[in-house]
Amino acid sequence: MKNHRETFGSNFAVIMAMAGSAIGLGNIWRFPYIVGQYGGAAFIIVYLIASLLLALPIFYAETILGRASRSNTFQAMRTFAPKTLWRHVGFLTIISPILIMGFYGVVGGWSIQYLYKSLTFSFVRSTPDAIDYYFGSYISSDFTPLIGLSIFVAIMVFITLAGVKKGIERFTKPTLPILMILIIGIAIYSVSLPGAYKGVEYLIKPDFSKLTARGVAAALGQSFFSLSLGVGTILIYASYMKKEQNIFSSGLGTALFDVVFAIIAGFAIMPAVFASGLEPSAGPGLIFKTLPFIFNKIGQTLPLVSGIISIVFFFSIFIAALTSAISLLEVGVAYLSEETRLNRKFATIVVGGIIWFLGVLCSLSFGLLSDITIGGENIFGIFDHVCSNILMPLGGLLFTIFVGWKMPKSTVYEEFTNNSTKKFNIKLYPIVRFLMRYVAPIGIIAIWISIYL
Ligand code: PFF
Repeated sequence: MKNHRETFGSNFAVIMAMAGSAIGLGNIWRFPYIVGQYGGAAFIIVYLIASLLLALPIFYAETILGRASRSNTFQAMRTFAPKTLWRHVGFLTIISPILIMGFYGVVGGWSIQYLYKSLTFSFVRSTPDAIDYYFGSYISSDFTPLIGLSIFVAIMVFITLAGVKKGIERFTKPTLPILMILIIGIAIYSVSLPGAYKGVEYLIKPDFSKLTARGVAAALGQSFFSLSLGVGTILIYASYMKKEQNIFSSGLGTALFDVVFAIIAGFAIMPAVFASGLEPSAGPGLIFKTLPFIFNKIGQTLPLVSGIISIVFFFSIFIAALTSAISLLEVGVAYLSEETRLNRKFATIVVGGIIWFLGVLCSLSFGLLSDITIGGENIFGIFDHVCSNILMPLGGLLFTIFVGWKMPKSTVYEEFTNNSTKKFNIKLYPIVRFLMRYVAPIGIIAIWISIYL
C-alpha cells in the first residue's frame, strides 16, 4: 500500500500546499482579533518568539516523522515504536482536526455570506452603523449562517473526493499569491486612513504590562493554530513529500510565509479598527466588521472599485479557508481509508458529515444555543479554546518528544539532512535537535503550568 501513496510534484508544490494549509482564517480572521484581545505589540512579540522556538521545531518534528514513515499518524507511531502506547497519539490527530473544523467551517460559512453580500454591493451602499449591526444579527439568526456552513463543508468534501494531487495541489498554487497582493493593498489603504496611526502604534509599541499569562498561552496557541501543528496535518502532507525534497527549507519557507501574512493582516485590520472607532477587543467578528467598513469608505468615492475589491477579497478569504479545511479533512480521511475497510470516498463523506454536525452546534451557539457556556465561552469559543490552547500544543508536545527522544537518531538525522547531502542542514541539525528535545517541550509545559496551576 505504501508504494502507492501519491507525492507532491516539487519542493515548491510542497511549500505551497503546506502554506495553503497554514495560511487561512488563522492569519486573516483569528490573528487580528486575538492580538486585539491580548493587547497588541507585546502579544505579537511573544507570538514571534513562540513561532520560532516552539512551533518551528515542532513543524520539523512532524515533517520528519511524516516523511520517514510515509504514512498516516497511527501508522507513523507504530512504525517507529511498535506495540507501545505511542500508537494512541494517533487518536488525538483524528479528534483534534474534526473539532477544529467544527468552528472553522462556521467562519468559512461567514466568508461565503460576506462574499454574497459583496456580490450584491451591500457594503458599498450601506452605512458604517448598519455594517456594525449586521454581523451580530447575522450570526445570531440561527438559520442563515447554516447555509454558508453547509456550502462550505460540501465544497470541501467535493475537493477532497478528487484526491490529493488533483484536488489539493492544483487548487492551492494560484490562490495564495492573489490573496497576498490583496492583503498588502488593503494594509496600505488601511494605514493611510485618518486616525489609523493609533492602530499602527498598537501593533508596534509593546506594552508588556498588558500581557498576562493567558496572553502568553494564547500566543502559543496562535502559533500552533496558524502553522497547522499538533493535529497531524503537516505530518500527513510530509508523508506525500519526495525523499529529495528539503525539509529544512520547506519548513522555514512555510513558517515565514505564514508569519508575514499574519502580520500584514494585522496591519490591514488594526489601523482600520482604530480609524473606524471599533473596539480592538471585539472578538471573532473583528474582521467581518472592519473590512466592510473599509470597503464602505472606499465606496464613497469609488463605488465600483470598492465593490470589486470586496468581492475578490472575500472570495480569497474563502479560498484560504478552504485550502486549510481540506488539509484538516485529509487527516481523518487518510486514517479511515488506510486503517479501516472504508474506501476513500466513503471516508470523506463520513468525516464531512461529522464536521457539518459539529459546525451546526458551533453556529447555533451564537443564537439558539447561546445559553450553553463554560467560563463565559459559548460552544464555538470552547471548541476554539480547547483546540488551539490545549489539544494542538499537546499534539505538538507528543510529536516533538517522539521525534526527539524515541525515533532512531539516525533516521531523524537522515531525514533532516537528506542523507547527509545538505551541508547547511548538517550544520543546523544540532540546534534543531536541541530545540526539539528540550526547548519546545519545556516551553509548552512551562506555559501550561503558568496558566493552569
Ligand atoms: N493553519 C490554519 C489557519 O491558520 O487558518 C488552520 C489550521 C489548518 C489548523 C490545519 C490546523 C490544521 F491542521
